Amino acid sequence: MKVLATGGTGYIGSHTVIELIKKGYEVEILDNLFNSKIEVLDKIEKITGVKPKFHQIDMLDEEGVEKVFAEGRFDTVIHFAGLKAVGESVAKPLEYYKTNIGGTINILNAMKKYDVKRIIFSSSATVYGDPHQPTCVETLETGRDLTSPYGKTKYMIEEILKDAAFADEDLSVTILRYFNPVGNHESGLIGEDPNGIPNNLMPIIMKVYRKEIPELSVYGNDYETRDGSCVRDYIHVLDLAAGHILAMEHMKQGTSIYNLGTGTGTTVYEMVRAFENASGEKLPYRDAPRRPGDLACLTADASKAEAELGWKATHTIEDAMRDTINYLRSA
Ligand code: WQD
Repeated sequence: MKVLATGGTGYIGSHTVIELIKKGYEVEILDNLFNSKIEVLDKIEKITGVKPKFHQIDMLDEEGVEKVFAEGRFDTVIHFAGLKAVGESVAKPLEYYKTNIGGTINILNAMKKYDVKRIIFSSSATVYGDPHQPTCVETLETGRDLTSPYGKTKYMIEEILKDAAFADEDLSVTILRYFNPVGNHESGLIGEDPNGIPNNLMPIIMKVYRKEIPELSVYGNDYETRDGSCVRDYIHVLDLAAGHILAMEHMKQGTSIYNLGTGTGTTVYEMVRAFENASGEKLPYRDAPRRPGDLACLTADASKAEAELGWKATHTIEDAMRDTINYLRSA
């Protein structure tokens, strides 16, 4: 089985590529390195002994994408590539729509031309918008009151994929809705290392630890939660990677959708304490106003992935913090 991982040098992509190689799959990577580094390829080789064939191509480059597919003869595409900074997407909506949606359409056209019939899409819990309930199940309506162009692109791409599968009965589409990815490979060789200013909690905590940012701002301490800070479903990236392999091995025609989360919620303060316990050092933080668009609580009902894929998250927050500290101290 030969797999093309678009965005495969990124945070979740690289961890999934490692898992694919360990399971004996042949993997190629297409990535424009906008939000990742070429050195990740050497790290993948160090961990697995295999250096995946790499195509430094932007998925908006139709000719370049076609050439990769013409030579690649892939069985499956795992589609990670895309812009993913929620805040940035509000400021640059056209760039997000062009890249995420235009790029996906180029990938789908190349798949059609070269008879690639299986795609797994890296989606996000953000498509649930405000579900008006703390836990999300896949049957919930999506696309309602989405607060960012980033989230809207994820929703729109899901709809495009559903329509593409409806139009071509041979096409298998699996949509994986990630909750909040954290942690990294136990080797400490790879981790979440976005270029530029991150949005997400863990990359910001990592920058505070590295003293690149003076302190963490805790966005809101007056939510209706056990300690007033927001609750999220933080899932270790190694569990996410394992979920992709099982999803690929269980693909069927039509569209399948799965939440990838732990089903357990953790507050921001609890994340700070867990990080401090792992590092053995205090993490500077201050209480700050709520961030517009944040929900008090968002966790996954992941029972469908367990029932149909035999997948369940096994890593804990403590595992994720231990691995994060290991990465920070190895870099
Ligand atoms: C988590 C919690 C913040 C930063 C988004 C996307 C989702 C997915 C994950 C890609 C919230 C709080 C954060 C900070 C803070 N994206 N926080 N101070 O918003 O749950 O989800 O990222 O895969 O699609 O919607 O993640 O990490 O931004 O925030 O207090 O400096 O941490 O308020 O409660 P979010 P996040």
